[in-house]
Amino acid sequence: MAVIDQLTSQQAIELENKYGAHNYHPLPVVLSRGEGVHVWDVEGKQYYDFLSAYSAVNQGHCHPEIVGAMTSQAQTLTLTSRAFYNDMLGKFEKYASETFKFDKLLPMNTGAEAVETALKICRKWAYEVKGIDENEAEIIVCENNFHGRTTTIISFSNDPVARKNFGPYTKGFIKIDYDNLEALEEAIVNNKNVAGFLVEPIQGEAGVYVPTEGYLAKAKALCEKHNVLFIADEVQTGIARTGKLLAVDHENVKPDILILGKALSGGAYPVSAVLANDPIMNVIRPGNHGSTFGGNPVAAAVAIAALEVVKKEDLANNAEELGQLFRAELSKFIETSSIVNAVRGKGLLNAILINDAEDSDTAWNICLKLRDNGLLAKPTHGNIIRFAPPLVMNKEQLLDCISIITTTLKEFEN
Ligand SMILES: Cc1ncc(COP(=O)(O)O)c(C=O)c1O
Repeated sequence: MAVIDQLTSQQAIELENKYGAHNYHPLPVVLSRGEGVHVWDVEGKQYYDFLSAYSAVNQGHCHPEIVGAMTSQAQTLTLTSRAFYNDMLGKFEKYASETFKFDKLLPMNTGAEAVETALKICRKWAYEVKGIDENEAEIIVCENNFHGRTTTIISFSNDPVARKNFGPYTKGFIKIDYDNLEALEEAIVNNKNVAGFLVEPIQGEAGVYVPTEGYLAKAKALCEKHNVLFIADEVQTGIARTGKLLAVDHENVKPDILILGKALSGGAYPVSAVLANDPIMNVIRPGNHGSTFGGNPVAAAVAIAALEVVKKEDLANNAEELGQLFRAELSKFIETSSIVNAVRGKGLLNAILINDAEDSDTAWNICLKLRDNGLLAKPTHGNIIRFAPPLVMNKEQLLDCISIITTTLKEFEN
């Protein structure tokens, strides 16, 4: 078989199983094309994408303006490393800094890298600005967090699958309950070495946990009062996903450090970034941090186009409106359903809770049935199914999707 032969779905799955590390458990569907809210498998069957590559494809698959910016830049200059300047990075840094209202941006590639970058900036700020004794800085994180899977990040995860047998773990983190202001205050007040509080404005991977209204604003106020940096991980919730450009915008919170990834590139290319104002970002000096590909010209061109699309197409408002409709329709369905306990979320980041034991495979089986019925979604932790379609979806398409989802769920009613 030549490498470029057209594969059947079965052949593609067998190849991955044989030659690829088994670090994922994908839904058995093999995609070969995407456009807008749709993807197609190798046999030509069309699906609605209701995951959007974990909220990376907010702008829809293969958005012509994003792909256009990428191909045109790819034909001009792809990579210089940061050993030299390139004529695109500064434009991206200015555009994104102005968009998110920060002084400066540090470009990286993946979400986990951006989180690592934020942690490093926070620690350096702690020693050089706040005056914490060397190697004593602590960063507060939340139970059930998900910030990626590098060695340091899994050190403060409580997902046994991500953690077990990957020790020894990185020190310097204090874990508290999510959505618990008393726990945050206690952790800050009881430890003079607290430098930062790293938080997801909505816990996406954990199952789309939306904190109590006011939590983020009050947490930010607590951090401000005690000179602790409020670090918002908006890798999944950012770029219009929850109905505002950033999820923290729902509570008018301005983080001290903002972490972005995923849809910063419209899913076209790995681009992530950390943003902060000068008193924080200026602790980083030449040699402290970097990445060969971070800030490359293609990434810069793609990210500018991706942000322009979000603004031009008013994706935040679309996510807000369609999200309300989605939850209203699903809530109506739940009133008479025995298979779904609840729907929750913000904008177009939503989840349903399946009425079965956490370790049952009901959510997985529902996702297989949804696939057969033309819609792709995936269970997240426990018996929860996350629903996060591209934000370019229209009302008619969403109603069609709701009909697929409710019809499928009915097949699982007792
Ligand atoms: C909140 C959050 N932070 C960080 C990450 C890690 O991003 P990446 O997979 O690009 O490393 C994710 C990925 O799902 C995420 O949801």
